[in-house]
Amino acid sequence: MSGAPIITLTPAPTLDRTYFVHNLIEGGVNRADSVAEELAGKGINVTRGLYLSGVKAPGVVPIGNSDPGVFARTGSMDQFIPHWVDGTLRVSTTIVEKDGPTTKVNEAPRPLSDSDWKEVVALTIAKVKENNAQWLVIAGALPIDKGTNKFVDLEPLFTAMHDLGVRVAMDSSGEPLKLYATKGLPSVIKPNAHELAETVGRDLHTVGDVIDAARELCQHGIECVLASLGPDGMVAVTKDRAWKAKTGPVKVINTVGAGDATLAGFLTAVTTNPVADDSEFGVGFNVSLGVQNAVQYGAVAVTQPTSGLENLDNMPVAEVTDNPDRSTPLEEIAYAAPTK
Ligand SMILES: Nc1ncnc2c1ncn2[C@@H]1O[C@H](COP(=O)(O)OP(=O)(O)OP(=O)(O)O)[C@@H](O)[C@H]1O
Ligand SMILES: [Mg+2]
Repeated sequence: MSGAPIITLTPAPTLDRTYFVHNLIEGGVNRADSVAEELAGKGINVTRGLYLSGVKAPGVVPIGNSDPGVFARTGSMDQFIPHWVDGTLRVSTTIVEKDGPTTKVNEAPRPLSDSDWKEVVALTIAKVKENNAQWLVIAGALPIDKGTNKFVDLEPLFTAMHDLGVRVAMDSSGEPLKLYATKGLPSVIKPNAHELAETVGRDLHTVGDVIDAARELCQHGIECVLASLGPDGMVAVTKDRAWKAKTGPVKVINTVGAGDATLAGFLTAVTTNPVADDSEFGVGFNVSLGVQNAVQYGAVAVTQPTSGLENLDNMPVAEVTDNPDRSTPLEEIAYAAPTK
C-alpha cells in the first residue's frame, strides 16, 4: 500500500442491521419488508468520510472470523485492514417502522482476548509506520480485555505514536475518554457537549463554560479540544486560543454519525493544508481551517439519512470566529451526569 496520512482504529466495530417493517407488533411475530446491513463504527465512519474527500485513511478493525464475507457484503473491502478474531461481530439492530418510530437494540462490544488486543495494537503501529502516517484516529467504544477484565489498554498505542511523532485524535466517551483525556495523551479529542461535561464533571451552560472545560483538558496536555455542539457548531480550544465555527441552518434528517463526519472534515483540512510550524496557531496544524471544514462536513452529514457520509454535495458555508463570545448560551445545557 502506498502512503496514507491517516490510519484509523475502530476497537469495537458493529454490524448495523436495519429491519424495515410496516408497523411493529410488540410481542408478536413480525415480518420485515426489507433488511439492510452495514459495517459500522466511529473509526470506520471517519475512514469512509476521509476517502470521500480523497484522503487515504485505512481503517484497522478487529472483526469476527465467522463472517469473513462481511467487508465484501457491506461494500467496504479496500479501505479496511481486518484483524480476524474468533467468533462473530456484534450486532446493532434497528427497527424502522413505516411512518412510525425507530427502535434500536445495540449489543455491547464483545470482550477481546489479551493476545488479540496485543495483535491489534501491533497491526495498528505497523500500518502507521508502513504508510508514514501523521495521524492515528482511535474512535468509538472500547471492548473489555478478557485478560484484565478492564477496558483494553490504549497506552501502548499512545506511547508508540508519541515515539513516532504521530498525533492521535480520539473520539470516545465515558470512562475511557476521561482516563486518556485527563492523562493528556491524545493530541486532539472530539467530545460533544455532554461528553465534555461528563469528562470535567460539571454542567456546561455557555460557550465560556465549554471553553473553560476544554482548556482544563489542554492543561493536561491535549493540544486541541474540538467540542461539537450540535446545531451550535463547534468550538476548538487550545492552551491559549479558541475558535467557534458554525454553518447556516440546514434541513436535519439524521444526526447520528455527524460527529464522525466532523472529525473527517477536520482531518481533511489539516492534512491537506499543512503549516510549517506552530507560530500561527500555537499548535502544528491549522485549527481555524480544520474547525471550519469540520462543521461543514457535520452539516452535510445531518442532511443525509445514513449514519455514514454518502457524498459531500451541497456543502454549506461556515463562519469561523476567533475569540467567540463567552456569554452565548448553549442551545441545550450539557449535563455532566451520565445519560441512560
Ligand atoms: N441540527 C444541526 N444543524 C446543523 N448542524 C448540525 C446539527 N446537528 C449537528 N450538526 C453538525 O454536526 C456536528 C456534530 O454534531 P454533534 O455535536 O451532535 O456530534 P456527536 O454527538 O458527536 O455525534 P455522533 O457521535 O452521533 O457522531 C456539529 O458540530 C455540527 O457541525
Ligand atoms: Mg460523537
